[in-house]
Amino acid sequence: MAILLAGGAGYIGTHTAVEFLNAGYDVVVADNLYNSKEEAVRRVERITGKTVPFYKIDVCDGEALRKLFSEQTIDTVVHFAGMKAVGESVAKPLMYYRNNLDATLTLLEVMKEFGCKSFVFSSSATVYGTNDTMPLYETMPRGMCTNPYGWTKWMIEQILMDAAKADPELSVVLLRYFNPIGAHESGMIGEDPQGVPNNIFPFITQVAVGRRPLLTVFGDDYNTPDGTCIRDYIHVVDLAKGHVAAVPYAAEHPGSVIVNLGTGKGTSVLEIVHAFERVNNIKIPYVIGPRRPGDLTECYANADKAEQLLGWKAEKDIDDMCRDGYRWQTMNPMGYTE
Ligand code: WQD
Repeated sequence: MAILLAGGAGYIGTHTAVEFLNAGYDVVVADNLYNSKEEAVRRVERITGKTVPFYKIDVCDGEALRKLFSEQTIDTVVHFAGMKAVGESVAKPLMYYRNNLDATLTLLEVMKEFGCKSFVFSSSATVYGTNDTMPLYETMPRGMCTNPYGWTKWMIEQILMDAAKADPELSVVLLRYFNPIGAHESGMIGEDPQGVPNNIFPFITQVAVGRRPLLTVFGDDYNTPDGTCIRDYIHVVDLAKGHVAAVPYAAEHPGSVIVNLGTGKGTSVLEIVHAFERVNNIKIPYVIGPRRPGDLTECYANADKAEQLLGWKAEKDIDDMCRDGYRWQTMNPMGYTE
């Protein structure tokens, strides 16, 4: 029996593969390498000393997916395969709706054909929309998303909840990620965005190794203690462990459940920049720029449900995230180059 990691060569997928392997599960990775490298899967094998069957396929391709399911015994699918750049989704909405929805639908159809009944989905706090009551609880209604990427997460949650309602044997766990950052403590795997990073943390690590001259902080006139936006940053290894905790829960609980994966703690942009400087003893040159359109002032989780239901809670702090993220970037200044 193995766990299929769809999109398992990416940033969160590789860290999750390591945690599943360390917990004694077998994993199979399917990835079209659109935004990832096969080298990352090889690094997972080196970290764990285990073999990971890798299928370079697009999970929208039903025939390729059927072949995988006929060659491997898959009892759970963890689905990370999707496009995730907010700005690109605004420019190319059809591509985002086509790919992200199609991947999910194809996975569900092929799972049904092969009697696979357990599905863990990488959702996002973005589905809470512009709701500004913090912290965010799973019981709050989903909101209005501000971009097509966010709507794909919103719509896929709906598709999965409907599928679980229609099939009494299907288990679905919707994991709403807050802001995953950092890297595996070995420094062998980490975040490797293509082009200019959209997200704050890889931008900071690239400035730290001299790949970019300076960081622009998007606005310091928000209604927060230091004027910069507040997010719930979570170490990617903690996040990965949340998926491992979700699998036994899914096995025993048909139906669908929503679980926040966050720390419950908010950190401002300037706090994270200064923590990074202190922990790594390095200067991060930055300037204050204008606000980025669409940014929320604050976004952080109530993380109690994950502890109650899955027995999981985040254990690492901002200093760990800064230390591990910097180690990855110094060991791999240009990311995965092979
Ligand atoms: C965090 C804070 C920025 C870059 C987005 C998506 C979300 C999810 C993760 C992903 C904000 C500030 C950023 C920079 C800055 N999707 N910032 N300078 O906006 O919480 O979430 O990414 O796959 O759906 O919306 O994360 O890291 O982009 O920004 O000052 O160069 O850092 O304004 O306050 P965000 P982020």
